[in-house]
Amino acid sequence: MSQLTIKPVTGNIGAEIEGADLSMPVDPSVAEALRDALWSYQVLFLRDQHLDIAQLKQVTALFGPLQRLPYVEPLPDDPLVIGVQKKASDKNVGVFGGNWHSDFSFLEHPPAGSLLSAVQVPEIGGDTVWSNQIAAYETLPDDLKRAVEGRAAIHVGKPHGVKFAPKGKQRSTIKMVRGDPEADRETVHPAVRAHPETGRKALFVNPVYTSRLDGMMEAESEPILDRLFWHATRPEFSCRHRWRAGDLVIWDNRTTLHFAVNDYDGSDRLLYRTTFSDEQRPHA
Ligand code: SIN
Repeated sequence: MSQLTIKPVTGNIGAEIEGADLSMPVDPSVAEALRDALWSYQVLFLRDQHLDIAQLKQVTALFGPLQRLPYVEPLPDDPLVIGVQKKASDKNVGVFGGNWHSDFSFLEHPPAGSLLSAVQVPEIGGDTVWSNQIAAYETLPDDLKRAVEGRAAIHVGKPHGVKFAPKGKQRSTIKMVRGDPEADRETVHPAVRAHPETGRKALFVNPVYTSRLDGMMEAESEPILDRLFWHATRPEFSCRHRWRAGDLVIWDNRTTLHFAVNDYDGSDRLLYRTTFSDEQRPHA
């Protein structure tokens, strides 16, 4: 039996987990309890973990095989880990993840989830916000539900490609590939996806990577997507994390959107980030 205490942080999404020291080898019952909590609450917050890179990777592997992300420069000595960094000298620039998105939804196999381990955080600002896409789907107005049910959506790697290349200064300390025509390749995913572990349905569209609904031109699709994005990010489906150094946050990328709040110019922020896939989940 695991000794975890699970404290929901809102009525719809997120739970703080107490009673786990993930810097130590994790008992299989604790791993199972963490996975169950993740499928139930979509985002888990664990304070005071202070994981090193090897420990972060070991914890990640409890949820699925580590997945290497394209288009983003990883740590020089570890292709499976990204340093999400903004330096105090990075003023008036975009940040990694600074718009509502689910990670890399334009890939053929989008990640199942991700972990962020906080090393250095601003005294004020730099929060991250997540939104529950199961709740968003279940509360869609009837006409929007009809618009997405049984329909696919088209995703492209807009920030990395040519066709939708972002205007203006997007630089932050983290290095990303820009202007790659390969990133304009369209990928098709159901607009509503059933979670592989729970079967619960979640809305799967996001403003960063979804270009249109299948079978529609962009102009026809745009007003529907705008309403979907507005609904999907309503405050009552969301939770907001105030980071402390040592925090570990784990989220399910199939049932959430997230947003890195860029309100801390003049402060340093560094979090290590790993990603796991659901192509073959191990049983710990
Ligand atoms: C991201 O993974 O999208 C960035 C999250 C953050 O930096 O808060």
